[in-house]
Amino acid sequence: MIYGFIGLGNMAGAILRGMHRSGDFAEDTLCGFNRSPGKTQTLRQEIGLKAMESARDVVEASDVVVLGVKPQMLPEVLPDIADLVTPEKLVVTIAAGKSLAFYAEYFGADVPVVRVMPNINARVGAAATAVCGNAAATEAQVARVRAMFQAVGTVYDIPEHQFAAFTAMAGSSGAFVHLYIDALASAGVKAGLSKPLAEALAAQATIGAALLTKESDEHPIALLDQVCSPGGSTIEGVHVLKQLGFESAVQQAAEAVIRKDAVLAGNEAKK
Ligand SMILES: NC(=O)c1ccc[n+]([C@@H]2O[C@H](COP(=O)([O-])OP(=O)(O)OC[C@H]3O[C@@H](n4cnc5c(N)ncnc54)[C@H](OP(=O)(O)O)[C@@H]3O)[C@@H](O)[C@H]2O)c1
Repeated sequence: MIYGFIGLGNMAGAILRGMHRSGDFAEDTLCGFNRSPGKTQTLRQEIGLKAMESARDVVEASDVVVLGVKPQMLPEVLPDIADLVTPEKLVVTIAAGKSLAFYAEYFGADVPVVRVMPNINARVGAAATAVCGNAAATEAQVARVRAMFQAVGTVYDIPEHQFAAFTAMAGSSGAFVHLYIDALASAGVKAGLSKPLAEALAAQATIGAALLTKESDEHPIALLDQVCSPGGSTIEGVHVLKQLGFESAVQQAAEAVIRKDAVLAGNEAKK
């Protein structure tokens, strides 16, 4: 089974490195092509990726074709490869905001396509990835795609209409967390800690609280209660966050992501 990547940027690079690291995908099963040659050479040296000369060469050589370019590049890439993408191929797309119906316009409805939404936490093996196959994709093909993305984290099967909400929860929220960590670390610096120490502590506290939420059976608010001693200092901080609208700000940010995703999907339908 040959896996071929068109576009070898941040996301595709993270997926390929994860697949290689997992040990489940032999070096000679991974190939790819990128517009600029530097990234291909780096991956060739790092993980033994077979460098291809063009997107068409990738499709010809591969059983599984992974579309790793930005969504706005697809109208250029897809017509170039469409005649080679037969129903015997399996297409995997990681492009944000592009529906399964979009690919059928280029390849026809009988080509199996699996839409995937990973996130950049794939770089550290901690992505949450959504997968959804079109009507032509068999369960075995979807399972093959699950296995690819299990190499970089956890995989969830969701219906296509939930992709926007999934993106807000699992992908865009990472940016919110980075903002929170930076703000917290800045308060630590103000209190006299070095910046590297403050950043490390803010990141570690975030990882720890997230792990506790994930691995304990308790509700997040029950865990919060355990940190807030009566009359103590933590409840003071929690009250300030509530007074300043912390929960509402997070919810409105997530809703804004979902709204914008709908706008982008709407633009796509008009093309
Ligand atoms: N980054 C994320 O967190 C994230 C999360 C979920 C989904 N995604 C999706 O992943 C996809 C890639 O995003 P990214 O962040 O990895 O972007 P990126 O780093 O810009 O990677 C895109 C790559 O595609 C290459 N490329 C452009 N046109 C090409 C062509 N015609 N043929 C071959 N290669 C071409 C670019 O080459 P150059 O070196 O010449 O620029 C670049 O290396 C997008 O569809 C995005 O929606 C990204």
